[in-house]
Amino acid sequence: MHSSILVSLLTSSLVLGAGLNTRQDEAWRTPPSNISQALNEVWAHEISTYSNPLGFKNYGYDQLIDAKGKIQVCMRWETTSTSITAAQRTAVEEAVGKMYNKWIAWLAGWDDFPYSSVPVTVVGWATSNTALLQGSTSGVDVYNTVDEGGIPQCDPRCGRFFHQDHNYSSCPGGSARHYDWSLWLTQGMSGGAGGDWGMRIGLEYMMQNLNSENIHILLHEMGHHFALDDFYDWTPTGMINFIMLAGSSTAITPFDGWMARDWWRHLKSRYNLSAATSTTKASSTSTSRASSSSTRSSSSSTRASSTTSGASSGQTLYGQCGGQGWTGPTTCAQGTCKYSNAWYSQCLN
Ligand SMILES: *[C@@H]1O[C@H](CO)[C@@H](O)[C@H](O)[C@H]1NC(C)=O
Ligand SMILES: *[C@@H]1O[C@H](CO)[C@@H](O)[C@H](O)[C@H]1NC(C)=O
Ligand SMILES: *[C@@H]1O[C@H](CO)[C@@H](O)[C@H](O)[C@H]1NC(C)=O
Repeated sequence: MHSSILVSLLTSSLVLGAGLNTRQDEAWRTPPSNISQALNEVWAHEISTYSNPLGFKNYGYDQLIDAKGKIQVCMRWETTSTSITAAQRTAVEEAVGKMYNKWIAWLAGWDDFPYSSVPVTVVGWATSNTALLQGSTSGVDVYNTVDEGGIPQCDPRCGRFFHQDHNYSSCPGGSARHYDWSLWLTQGMSGGAGGDWGMRIGLEYMMQNLNSENIHILLHEMGHHFALDDFYDWTPTGMINFIMLAGSSTAITPFDGWMARDWWRHLKSRYNLSAATSTTKASSTSTSRASSSSTRSSSSSTRASSTTSGASSGQTLYGQCGGQGWTGPTTCAQGTCKYSNAWYSQCLN
């Protein structure tokens, strides 16, 4: 299941929040009325477009839970000519953490999401020429190897993408030195790519925007890391400006935030977060759902095609089967339709 995602790739931390539940009244749990229809459309699209989207186990949410709310990142400095100072590397680390936490801010306090903010630490840098990393590199692992495409690569033995069982015993520094995902900074790249493996954006773009409030291409690609789709061929009703609609917004909008919340809501039962959810089991199948739209122009093939739910046969396990504004199936092919709130019922065993 790794290989298909890797192929598409090549071609082309947190504090347990106290009192988080205080906002979980019905108003907080329900999206604004001018968003809910579009949100339902997006979820229905997910379920009908992708094969077993809830079977994939390496979404950004999965990585964050496995990492217990602290994310470690490895940088791939993809240039043979541009050097970077220690101060710039620190600025990169801070910018990445700031952007990541703009997504987390939408999840914090939402529906048992356990973290209010997530520390993001850069633990490694990969470069084809270590002389490009100016100044002290103490505290980070410097990698000087390349992948099959000749691109500087962080040690696969330490990468979550290659060890989705979270077993880093073959990583020279052990689990403490593992990285959850990588950020590629690629010289001359416009646009970007994102997925479970991390994100890839232009090196010049990143370095020129380190102090931007919203590094919007990175925010968009991080959205893919958190399972959100692109919207190349359709837009949900009433939504014309949001970060996942490339080029329409430079910031995460409430609609983007609610799409991430929707994913969390559908995935959280697999994390055994509380006694209330511990009786439901996540699907055991994994699929090669390549989570990314690689570059903006080509979307990955493994994630296209195949419908799993059909109105005639009922909703799939963990799918939505009712709620205000819901027009999809109201019976379950597997499990029983269980009321969760006015806005949402779900097929559960
Ligand atoms: C939804 O309504 C709120 C409150 O009137 C408004 O601020 C917001 O812009 C609306 N959102 C959309 C996507 O129309
Ligand atoms: C972790 O991986 C190593 C091989 O790298 C293997 O020998 C070991 O049994 C694995 N541990 C677990 C708990 O699966
Ligand atoms: C959650 O609980 C189920 C049932 O006890 C167990 O099979 C599963 O491994 C647990 N998952 C996690 C992530 O702890």
